[in-house]
Amino acid sequence: MSSDYISLVRPDDWHLHLRDGPALRTTVPHTARVFGRAIVMPNLKRPITSISDALSYRERILAAVPERSSFQPLMTLYLTDTLRLEEIDLLANTEEVVAVKYYPAGATTNSKNGVTSTEKVYPIIERMAEFGIPLLLHGESTNPSTDIFDREKEFLDLTLSPLCDRFPELKIILEHITTSDSVDFVRERNQNVAATITVHHLLYDRNDMLTRGVRPHFYCLPILKRSSHTQSLRAAATSGNPKFFLGTDSAPHAKELKENSCGCAGIYSSPAAIELYAEVFEELDALDRLEAFASFHGADFYGLARNQEEVTLQKSEWLAPPSYQLDKTSVVPIRANEAIRWKLVKDNP
Ligand code: DOR
Ligand code: ZN
Repeated sequence: MSSDYISLVRPDDWHLHLRDGPALRTTVPHTARVFGRAIVMPNLKRPITSISDALSYRERILAAVPERSSFQPLMTLYLTDTLRLEEIDLLANTEEVVAVKYYPAGATTNSKNGVTSTEKVYPIIERMAEFGIPLLLHGESTNPSTDIFDREKEFLDLTLSPLCDRFPELKIILEHITTSDSVDFVRERNQNVAATITVHHLLYDRNDMLTRGVRPHFYCLPILKRSSHTQSLRAAATSGNPKFFLGTDSAPHAKELKENSCGCAGIYSSPAAIELYAEVFEELDALDRLEAFASFHGADFYGLARNQEEVTLQKSEWLAPPSYQLDKTSVVPIRANEAIRWKLVKDNP
């Protein structure tokens, strides 16, 4: 096959926000067009804190999956200070729910019910470690006086490091890492510690957000960092190290809530995610490593089977639209009105 085409085993998205209600009619097809599975975040307006809520949310997602797709949502529970141990026991016996998400209270969108101090959830975490249930972390400290660009590093030092020391058997995924500190941390810890990397953190840095005017569509959490961190993330993603894998953190917000005097955090990338990861890997002359990052490392870490079918991308430019419909409003995608160099040519064979 010429270098204008690349085929890979169908990828999975190990970190995704689908929202709920009519929004699912937009978000689910965008992900299901190429990804086989996705880890679905539980930070709905009313967070998913029970297995029964997770299973009914899953049904609503499945109802929005296009007919020809075999997309499978993998559900998560939202960790609160008061999450019941019985929910962890149930999770261990519920194939459709695979992980627990830790939001430090107040760190990001719909996180006010998150964890206020790690000690409070030690019994839950201990039980998760026993069962081999992965803990997914939004890794930012919430100290209001800590500079926003230093919050990830502070979380590593004050929260994650002690947590890893206390629970070496716990499977930990540090989500959407944005700094060289996190890259080093994940590399150096034992084999139970991994990380997801978004495509926007591989493509952009804080200059893209803050020079030539303020660009609200680049605002996400953890916030885009300086370019040297972006370079570390690019090196980690393309290194072949199985601790790093694809997680888009695609997070749609209505256009008017992004282009706002108090704009929401989140970048909507699922309509072009695999194509843009391909751009990054091509730029770094690492297209031969895209498949492992996108289709193997995550499944292996979660202990799930790898997908079987293949998808193909062609090097062929297309223009991302200015917006997509989202319920009664619209959502502006990553690269809106701009060219994307790779195109999905074959899906759902
Ligand atoms: O930018 C973000 N958006 N970061 C998050 O952690 C949450 C997400 C969302 O749900 O909008
Ligand atoms: Zn997220």
